[in-house]
Amino acid sequence: MAEKDFEGAVAFVTGAGSGMGAAVCRALAARGAEKVYAVDVNTDAVTKVTAEIDCAQPLAMDVSNADQVREAFERVAADSGRVDVVVHAAGVDDPVSKQWIYEARESGEKLDVLSRLTDDAWRRVMSINLDGTFYVLREAARLMRKGGGGSIVTVGSSSALDTLSGYPHYAASKAGVHAMSQAAAKELLPFGIRVNTVAPGPVDTGMAARTPAHLREAMAAGPARGYATADELADNILYLASPAAANVVGAILLSNGGQFTVP
Ligand SMILES: NC(=O)c1ccc[n+]([C@@H]2O[C@H](COP(=O)([O-])OP(=O)(O)OC[C@H]3O[C@@H](n4cnc5c(N)ncnc54)[C@H](O)[C@@H]3O)[C@@H](O)[C@H]2O)c1
Repeated sequence: MAEKDFEGAVAFVTGAGSGMGAAVCRALAARGAEKVYAVDVNTDAVTKVTAEIDCAQPLAMDVSNADQVREAFERVAADSGRVDVVVHAAGVDDPVSKQWIYEARESGEKLDVLSRLTDDAWRRVMSINLDGTFYVLREAARLMRKGGGGSIVTVGSSSALDTLSGYPHYAASKAGVHAMSQAAAKELLPFGIRVNTVAPGPVDTGMAARTPAHLREAMAAGPARGYATADELADNILYLASPAAANVVGAILLSNGGQFTVP
């Protein structure tokens, strides 16, 4: 049986309808959480996830909409009075750019994503991945400060560090997530709030399923472990959120199976 290190906790998990967010919700329940607000823009998906978790409640919210994020946290404040753990896993990839990377690899042509990248594609990734992180951190800080503390984990990406060619908008959004989370970690520590970040490499989730097969193979090639499971990442995320990481503040935990650290 899992250790009950989240006994009695009230948690708020974004991106809970799929992949890592869903895995975090299941793990929080197994580890004793009292209430898990499972938050996602995809209402059907998150309702399916919560149907199998007694303590979870689905909450519809678009992280790129500041009003919706504020209202969701107000709802938590009204219903539970506090939030102890916030995991912000909602995020998007860009399947069009992935397709262009794949086509260039297949054809042997030089890669051309940057010159074709539209304003809309840029804004979509930045508004969900970066603006969304700001809105969630801001509301989490407001509520946790009132409650006397808590723990926040954001999800960045190893792609902010190895900056995959043809993925500038995604890499920039996640580099922003890393920097914002570290700045927030310093500011919020005096209020008893710990902020940390997990930076995953390839993980087998809905997002990975949108990567063309050949590109997936290339990303999994080499001596590194290849695709991790969502449960493995949930373990990393919940380590940072748990009392075991009491001394870990502002960390960017790289969890990429050695993808670029293994020679
Ligand atoms: N899968 C990977 O290989 C990988 C690698 C590095 C980082 N990441 C990051 O990990 C996080 C989790 O991704 P995942 O792999 O579990 O992806 P996923 O696609 O399986 O799940 C993401 C969830 O976020 C939700 N979401 C998307 N836009 C939203 C919005 N505007 N508001 C609220 N919810 C929204 C989706 O509906 C989905 O349920 C993301 O931030 C992603 O960028 C993923």
